[in-house]
Amino acid sequence: MMHKTAEEQTEHGQLPAVEADNLTIHFRMRGGDTVKAADDVCFRIRPGETFGIIGESGSGKSTVGRALVGLLNPTSGAIRYQGQDVASMSRKAFRDIRRNYQIIFQDPHAALNPRMTILQSLQEPLTIAGQGTTDERRRIAYEALERSGLPAVIGSRYPHELSGGQKQRVNIARALTVRPQFIVCDEVVAALDVSVRGSILNLFAELQEEYGLTYAFITHDISVVAHISHRVSVMYLGRMVEMGPTGPVTEKPLHPYTHALLSAEPQPLPSELRQDRERVRLSGEIPSPIAPPSGCRFRTRCPAAQTLCGEKTPEMKELLPDHWVACHFATPDGPPDGS
Ligand SMILES: Nc1ncnc2c1ncn2[C@@H]1O[C@H](COP(=O)(O)OP(=O)(O)O)[C@@H](O)[C@H]1O
Ligand code: SF4
Ligand SMILES: [Mg+2]
Repeated sequence: MMHKTAEEQTEHGQLPAVEADNLTIHFRMRGGDTVKAADDVCFRIRPGETFGIIGESGSGKSTVGRALVGLLNPTSGAIRYQGQDVASMSRKAFRDIRRNYQIIFQDPHAALNPRMTILQSLQEPLTIAGQGTTDERRRIAYEALERSGLPAVIGSRYPHELSGGQKQRVNIARALTVRPQFIVCDEVVAALDVSVRGSILNLFAELQEEYGLTYAFITHDISVVAHISHRVSVMYLGRMVEMGPTGPVTEKPLHPYTHALLSAEPQPLPSELRQDRERVRLSGEIPSPIAPPSGCRFRTRCPAAQTLCGEKTPEMKELLPDHWVACHFATPDGPPDGS
């Protein structure tokens, strides 16, 4: 767990754009079970940065992402926007700032109304916000379309007439119309053809530069996160296990889970040249978040697990500058022996 000091609150003299402070989200099921989707998650996203969140399916990434834009309420802990606890805001204050915090989802089609033209879809958030005249809304919509790399003729089309990549550009344009500060991008290229992923990621990077946007970039695909993120955090079964600058985390991870996740990635080498000896596979299924393992949640799959791992939850420790790891036995030199 990270402890906040006054200096840490304002890193480089700036408040974090968005902060998760011991963010915990549990879903109570009808049968009485509780799904522990996220527990004690802590991070501070700096203004203008792309903060990657990676982990296998079911690790709690989308849950955290939805909480970051107010679509889910924390069970405990807090979300802060520029230092202000969202839960302490009045309803009116939250409504006024809500549109600064947007989310874009994986399925580009699901987010668009099939019966609306693209131009209508683009104007909808502005209409809901009661912003501008009809002419102004049209102008903003066309501008966003252009900025997202689409020709104006697309405005009169319907979603089914567009390719997946074009639809995702429309979703980006739609988020841009309200001039947000922060966007959660949840698996935004996962459903797209590999051939268009690069250009969509480049568009996100260009828009960040142009508008000073801050992103939380959620993906299960490490190559995507390495391409776009300044820092990366790694989630496993509802807990954050590692966080740091993208280079060190993706090239020299210190947590056994990150290490295994990376070595399980397909390598761009022909199979006879691969060093299979060094490849670590993640064995076994991810346990149920209804009854996660005691202590370190990764211990049932960790090749370096010891007795202590079942007894005590490892806290996040800063093993290298800005590089945090939650493992009892990791050191600045690497993950513990055996992993
Ligand atoms: N609304 C919900 N009700 C119950 N369980 C949920 C709900 N949303 C997510 N979960 C569960 O929480 C866990 C984390 O899900 P999610 O955040 O979607 O993970 P990820 O995005 O990393 O794949 C999963 O076990 C999922 O089934
Ligand atoms: S060594 Fe222990 S604390 Fe570290 S990841 Fe493995 S099980 Fe968790
Ligand atoms: Mg998800």
